[in-house]
Amino acid sequence: MLNKVNEAAAYILEKAGQKPELGLILGSGLGVLAEEIENPIAIPYNEIPHFPVSTVEGHKGQLVIGALSGKIVAAMQGRFHYYEGYSMQEVTFPVRVMKAMGMSHILVTNAAGGVNESFKPGDLMIIADHINYMGANPLIGPNEKEFGPRFPDMSSAYTKELVALAEGIAKEENIDVKKGVYIGFTGPTYETPAEVRMARILGGDAVGMSTVPEVIVAAHGGMKVLGISCITNMAAGILDQPLSHEEVIETTEMVKATFLSFVKRIVAEMEI
Ligand code: HPA
Repeated sequence: MLNKVNEAAAYILEKAGQKPELGLILGSGLGVLAEEIENPIAIPYNEIPHFPVSTVEGHKGQLVIGALSGKIVAAMQGRFHYYEGYSMQEVTFPVRVMKAMGMSHILVTNAAGGVNESFKPGDLMIIADHINYMGANPLIGPNEKEFGPRFPDMSSAYTKELVALAEGIAKEENIDVKKGVYIGFTGPTYETPAEVRMARILGGDAVGMSTVPEVIVAAHGGMKVLGISCITNMAAGILDQPLSHEEVIETTEMVKATFLSFVKRIVAEMEI
């Protein structure tokens, strides 16, 4: 895989003509952040050698490179999900490429269901830790030691300094940001109410269908990670109403302004 990763990285660097320092992965409905990038160079995924192609609604499927809050970023406008049928290695390929391009930091965002009953739709949650409930791991298979160790430490996969930075900014900006544990399920079904109760008993605060594989691969590569969930809905069974992708997109639309100003300030103040 190393060769493929390096080919993709070289292609992007050549096209971009600059070296991004921070990777951004933008979740469902959160791709608007890429529109804030100055002098953007957008590279559709299908042009990048060995990149999978994104299929889900609300995802654009391009890498956008340029300046955001004074840093050169490479933003994935749309990501690859395990439920689309991609392998875990395909889902996480872009993170390997980011690392190969020289990026040491990554900011991962997602839309998630609120499991913690004190949350409400529209809340932002800083991810303190995750539970991999996907029944799969992108590192299964031979370990390529150029990427990282066989048995990676996950005790600080979400970088504590970045969590503290985000919390401090939230406080200063008067944003009522939550912090908690993200539990990753495969999807594409939303969870049953019983699964949501289980998630809560296991220690989950938010549930979603992404992020976990990407963060595992980032941790494998020694990258510093910040994760932010947008709580788009209460998870199944908490409220007496069905869940829908439309609701997820509507909520991200509602929190857009807060999300954008929060993330832009985090990017500005991140020390890379
Ligand atoms: N469950 C799983 N993934 C999600 C949800 C949810 O309730 N909301 C947004 N993504």
